[in-house]
Amino acid sequence: MKVLVVGGGGREHTLAWALSRSPGVSELWTTAEKNAGLCGIARCVDLTEQGVAALADWAKGQGIDLTVVGPEAYLTVGIADEFRSRGLKIFGPTKAAAEIEGSKVFAKELMAGQGVPTAPFTVCQSAGAALQAARRFGLPVVIKADGLAAGKGVSVCFNWEEVEKAVDQIMVEKVFGEAGAAVVVEAYLEGEEASIHALVDESGFQVMPSSQDHKRVFDNDQGPNTGGMGAYSPAPVAGEPVLEEVSARILRPVLEALAAAGRSFTGALYTGIMMTKEGPQVVEFNCRFGDPETQVLLPRLKTDFLEVLQAAAEQRLAELPLKWRPEHAACVVLCSSGYPGAYKTGYPITGLEEAAALPGVLLFHAATSCQDGVCRTAGGRVIGVTGMGIDLPQALARAYQAAGLISFTGKHYRKDIGARALRK
Ligand code: AMP
Ligand code: GLY
Repeated sequence: MKVLVVGGGGREHTLAWALSRSPGVSELWTTAEKNAGLCGIARCVDLTEQGVAALADWAKGQGIDLTVVGPEAYLTVGIADEFRSRGLKIFGPTKAAAEIEGSKVFAKELMAGQGVPTAPFTVCQSAGAALQAARRFGLPVVIKADGLAAGKGVSVCFNWEEVEKAVDQIMVEKVFGEAGAAVVVEAYLEGEEASIHALVDESGFQVMPSSQDHKRVFDNDQGPNTGGMGAYSPAPVAGEPVLEEVSARILRPVLEALAAAGRSFTGALYTGIMMTKEGPQVVEFNCRFGDPETQVLLPRLKTDFLEVLQAAAEQRLAELPLKWRPEHAACVVLCSSGYPGAYKTGYPITGLEEAAALPGVLLFHAATSCQDGVCRTAGGRVIGVTGMGIDLPQALARAYQAAGLISFTGKHYRKDIGARALRK
C-alpha cells in the first residue's frame, strides 16, 4: 500500500515510523519539509503551500491508498472532505467533525447539551460581556478565544489585570483575528491533567492507554506554555477506572451527539482532562493525535498500525482487537533555547547515532535538516527522545541517558518529565 503522512513534526515522524514497520506498506510519503528523520523513512512531497485540494489531486494521481493527517490545521480546513470526495481513504475527521477542536464554543455547547463533565462557562461576543462574565465566575478564571490560535488562545488568569489583558488581546486588539470573534469564559478547574486518546470511526471507538504531557517550558511547570516538552504513558493519574468513566460519560455521548448532528467523527480524538475531586472533567478536545503524546503511545502499540488505520477507513475499528505492549514509554523533547519565543536554528547536532544505539531508545525528529551528513536544528522543538522500559523509571532513565548524548548549541529540555507520576 502507498501511504501518505500529512504534516512534518515529531508526531508525524512517529506515525511514519509506526507505518514503516508494517509489511503492508510498500511506499511511504510525507509532506514534511524540515524533518531529516521523517524524510529518511518517507519520500517528501512539498505541496503544503498549494492547499489541501492540490494535495488531494496529487494523492489521486499518485495512487495513494491511505492518508493519515497529523496537524489540526489541515483537518479544520477540510482535508478529509477533499480526499473523500475523490474516493481516497483518509484517517482524520471531516471539517464539520473537526470543529470540536476548531471552535471552543461549539465544543462547550456540544458538551453542555449532553451533560458531559466540563467547567461551567459563558460564551461572550464582546469585551464588556467577557469582563462581566469573568467577574461573575470570580478568580481564578479562564479566558479562551473561540477558534484556533496556535496554542496561544487560552489564558488562565489569577488576577484582574490578567483577565483584562486576555480579553483586550482577543477582543480589542484582535491578535487572533476571526478566531477571537467570540470568547469562552470558564471556571478554573483544579487538579492534574491527562491526555486520553481514542481511535474513532462510525462503528465505534477504542480508547488508547493514558498519557500525560508537560506543557510549560521549564521544570516544575514554570514559564510559558509550549506545544509540549515531554510525555509518558501510561499515566497513573488516569488508570483503567478513569478510562472507563471517560468512555461512558464523555466519549460515548460526545461522539453520539456529533453523529446525530451529521458530523460523524473518524480519526483520533484527543480529550484533555483535568482529574478534579469530582472526577474527570474535559479541558479541551483535539481532533488529532497529540504531540508529543504520539511519541509515547505508538511505540506501545503492538497491533500493526496500518491495520488500525485501514480498519478505521473501512468503519470496522470497533471489532479490531487492539494489543498494547506492557512496557512504559517516556519522551523528552529537546528544544532550541528561547522556544516558545524567538530562537536560532542551523546548529549542528551531534550524538544522534550513539543515542539511537542505546537499548529501548527511539529518536523522533521534530525539526531538523540534514545535508552532507550533518544534521542541524531547524525549529523550536528539535527532537523527541523516547525511552521504553519495564517501568516508568527505566523508561525515563533510558530517555534521559540518550538525551544527554545528543548535543547542539542552545539545547534545552525539561529534567522533570514524569516526576509527578514517580511521586505517586
Ligand atoms: P486548551 O488549549 O483548552 O487545552 O488550554 C490550554 C491549557 O490551559 C490546558 O492544557 C490547561 O492547562 C489550561 N486550562 C484550560 N482550561 C482550563 C480550566 N478550565 N481550568 C484550569 N486550567 C485550564
Ligand atoms: N501535546 C499537546 C497537543 O498535542 O495539543
